[in-house]
Amino acid sequence: MAASKTVLVTGGTGYIGSFTALALLQADYKVIIVDNLYNSSQEVLNRIELICGKRPEYHNCDITNEKDLDAVFDKHPDIDNVIHFAALKAVGESGEIPLEYYRVNVGGTLALLRSMQRHDVTNIVFSSSATVYGDATRFPDMIPIPEECPLGPTNPYGNTKYTVEAMITDHVNAERTKAKKEGRDEKQFNAALLRYFNPAGSHPSGIMGEDPQGVPYNLLPLLAQVAVGKREKLLVYGDDYDSKDGTAIRDYIHILDLTRGHTVALDHLREHHPGVGAWNLGTGKGSTVFDMIKAFSKAVGRDLPYEVVGRRQGDVLNLTANPTKANSELGWKARHTLEQACEDLWRWTENNPRGYRQDPPREFVER
Ligand code: NAD
Ligand code: WQD
Repeated sequence: MAASKTVLVTGGTGYIGSFTALALLQADYKVIIVDNLYNSSQEVLNRIELICGKRPEYHNCDITNEKDLDAVFDKHPDIDNVIHFAALKAVGESGEIPLEYYRVNVGGTLALLRSMQRHDVTNIVFSSSATVYGDATRFPDMIPIPEECPLGPTNPYGNTKYTVEAMITDHVNAERTKAKKEGRDEKQFNAALLRYFNPAGSHPSGIMGEDPQGVPYNLLPLLAQVAVGKREKLLVYGDDYDSKDGTAIRDYIHILDLTRGHTVALDHLREHHPGVGAWNLGTGKGSTVFDMIKAFSKAVGRDLPYEVVGRRQGDVLNLTANPTKANSELGWKARHTLEQACEDLWRWTENNPRGYRQDPPREFVER
């Protein structure tokens, strides 16, 4: 069967999904987005079009609704790949309303897989997370973290990612076994479980970036709010960790590198038919919270105020990727620096004080 290069992107108006839609369009894929706009805005479609001259097709669709998903697959029989981002993602909130997290993240993926099965769509790339490793410092010889590190999520959000990884793995393996038994091509069933470390940054144009609705939770969006005066100072969660400066270590990866990881993973599934594989998408370089304050302050051009407070519950000392497997198997490596991520984030923040709730900066539209 000739490959159609048409991709369904769930959660495609969100932060990582929108950048991946852009990367796919730039790589000559046709992109169909489904998203219920729970945490995003349709304005991002205009921004994608401004950057690359092409517009993804958008459907307002809740992934937990199988009938609505069926309608999208029925309308686009050429879809032969899915990249699945749609999910709830706030770790703290997942402890307060875990059933909602299971309903959307696990139930939504179940609905998606069933609908894909009915429409003979056999390749899926899934947004997993470094959070599936939990506290990897339990295994000191596994820092930086390789994919074979034992999994052990420590919060309901992480449990949903762990459960979905298992569900996709079981499904793809069963489909392969069944196809083999029936003399059909088993190699058509494939899944990439991409374990992201900490996504950072924005588009260098300054017109696409992360636009969290409500109160942000992650370090960089919070630092950006300090820089524009929406927040008095950054609260640093603990300086008593066993690191060079006492603050916790993470692997911050530029959004453009992360999204390129999706196009290469998809190409890998289509060309090499590996079955199910898990790949870390990180840089392999750890940065402390103080490193990040310094790097972002440099991009902004002034020191940003902070105050050290106690550790945040559930935080761990070090989550740094060993990205060797993605490098050797997918030919993928992060190329952007932390400095670029900070500069791009600052350009986006300065240009779009109201995020996507405003028109794009005029000079961009008039170019
Ligand atoms: P995001 O919130 O910006 O994007 C998620 C998108 O899914 C949003 O546009 C939202 O409207 C949509 N959505 C939510 N529920 C839906 C539903 N029921 N039906 C249809 N659409 C729905 O988040 P993001 O940062 O872009 O994350 C994308 C994926 O990557 C998520 O699966 C997340 O768990 C995963 N991930 C994110 C990070 C991170 O730090 N941002 C790290 C690791 C993994
Ligand atoms: C980074 C560092 C904080 C805020 C989370 C999820 C993970 C993944 C990515 C989805 C930590 C410190 C933060 C602040 C701070 N998401 N910090 N003050 O916790 O590594 O990962 O997002 O899959 O699953 O857990 O990211 O950006 O929240 O924190 O000192 O106000 O910054 O303690 O060391 P985290 P983060």
